[in-house]
Amino acid sequence: MYGRGGRAVTALDGIGAEIPRGSYTAVMGPSGSGRSTFLHCAAGLDMPTSGRAWIGDTELGGMNETELTKLRRRRVGFVFQAFNLVPSLSVRQNVELPLRLGGERLDPAWLAEILARVGLEGRAAHRPAELSGGQQQRVAVARALVTRPDVVFGDEPTGALDTVTAREVLSLLRSCVDDTGQAVVMVTHDPVAASYADTVLFLADGRLAGRMDDPTADRVADRMTRLGAWA
Ligand SMILES: Nc1ncnc2c1ncn2[C@@H]1O[C@H](COP(=O)(O)OP(=O)(O)OP(=O)(O)O)[C@@H](O)[C@H]1O
Ligand SMILES: [Mg+2]
Repeated sequence: MYGRGGRAVTALDGIGAEIPRGSYTAVMGPSGSGRSTFLHCAAGLDMPTSGRAWIGDTELGGMNETELTKLRRRRVGFVFQAFNLVPSLSVRQNVELPLRLGGERLDPAWLAEILARVGLEGRAAHRPAELSGGQQQRVAVARALVTRPDVVFGDEPTGALDTVTAREVLSLLRSCVDDTGQAVVMVTHDPVAASYADTVLFLADGRLAGRMDDPTADRVADRMTRLGAWA
């Protein structure tokens, strides 16, 4: 619930969803259906006014701000639509940031491995402005992966990318699930992006309006049309 009194908005209402380890989940729904709010509550970025959220066995509502910050830093990775890189820092420094904030150092072998995974070998010293949009988003994915999180959350992670570049990032997220058993939860409005997931959750007016396993782009588009998403 956002706001109070006459301006109160119930952004989410009675959503129950379990995201298993090693699964790729897409969250879809019309604009304003509560997708970002859902993601923020699941990731511990926002606290629901009622209801509960867990990561693994940890209930987020029971944690103080320090514990939450630590959990967000260690167990959760984020990728946003606008890459949110620090322009004055190099690729290496951007990727290193979540560890630095926790007072840890980046093992050079791990950095090399992550940069190889996202296809940015040899780019460690570049600044974001020297990279294409897709490369910048891959830096953001590398930054999200650096703490070996249990789950990576994305809010329209391909929203600012062209089709080809978007596919690279989607495949990269897919490999997090397939190769390392991490969970990925991604908000998207794109049926093709959703088809990379194992399961799609559909939201409408803050409620869970359905789910689809083994989605194809056509079936997702069809369901979205019936939800009135593109009316
Ligand atoms: N900070 C806020 N204060 C008040 N209402 C809010 C706030 N953030 C979101 N809302 C409302 O909560 C509802 C869900 O918003 P949310 O951002 O989760 O939607 P969304 O599905 O991500 O949509 P979008 O396509 O705009 O990203 C909307 O009605 C929105 O207006
Ligand atoms: Mg949103």
